[in-house]
Amino acid sequence: MKVVVKLSGTVFDGTDAEQKLRELASMFDEFINKGNRLAVVVGGGKRSRELIELGRRLGASEDVLDEIGIDLTRINAKVLIAGIKASYPKVITDLREAEVAWNLGKIPVAGGLSPGHSTNAVAALLAEHLKADLFINSTKAGGVFDKDPRTDPSAKLLEKVYVNDLKRMIKGSFEAGTYELLDEVSIGIIERSKIKTVVTGTGLSEVKKALYGERAGSMIVFERI
Ligand code: UTP
Repeated sequence: MKVVVKLSGTVFDGTDAEQKLRELASMFDEFINKGNRLAVVVGGGKRSRELIELGRRLGASEDVLDEIGIDLTRINAKVLIAGIKASYPKVITDLREAEVAWNLGKIPVAGGLSPGHSTNAVAALLAEHLKADLFINSTKAGGVFDKDPRTDPSAKLLEKVYVNDLKRMIKGSFEAGTYELLDEVSIGIIERSKIKTVVTGTGLSEVKKALYGERAGSMIVFERI
């Protein structure tokens, strides 16, 4: 299997970050050792949101705020690289570099690439470029719901979601630090290359299930269901 995993930046935030990252790193090593291929993209988490907000209050423009976010995601990537034995040692800063690492049998780890989108879009681009069989988007949200689970307790997880329905659900916030679940850029890439995509949670067991093809979270489908 050839898989791209996007890890939410929240895995770097809590007091349990060390434990979480150790477990994720060894799961990634094990996956690679079984003959699979893997690339990982990490988000910026709380630190990026806080510093973006600080920069915004000081008057920075949106592109500069995006750059601040990218820098933070790359710091997170550096931290994760330290824990993965099979990782490519440098943080990936362009798609072709990821391809080189991938062809060497190493795990390329990236954060952000360029202003104007989220690390979800980076992960979608990597999945497209590397012709991955699967893109796993591990998010705080845990999947795609029929209603907003933060405000409506009756919200149900959708096992499958039609890409056009998903587009309608995404309100489309384009300010730095505020990209939701999957931004429109990511959905556009997923759709144009029909990338098999699963949106799941940040728990180790959910990511593991998704990696090994078990049902976890929501699958994006390209035909109306
Ligand atoms: P993310 O929004 O992807 O990380 O990147 P996050 O906030 O941790 O989100 P989740 O939890 O992983 O989903 C942080 C910020 O960095 C900038 C954006 O401003 C983004 O909000 N960024 C990231 C870019 O401008 N370009 C990129 O390629 C990646």
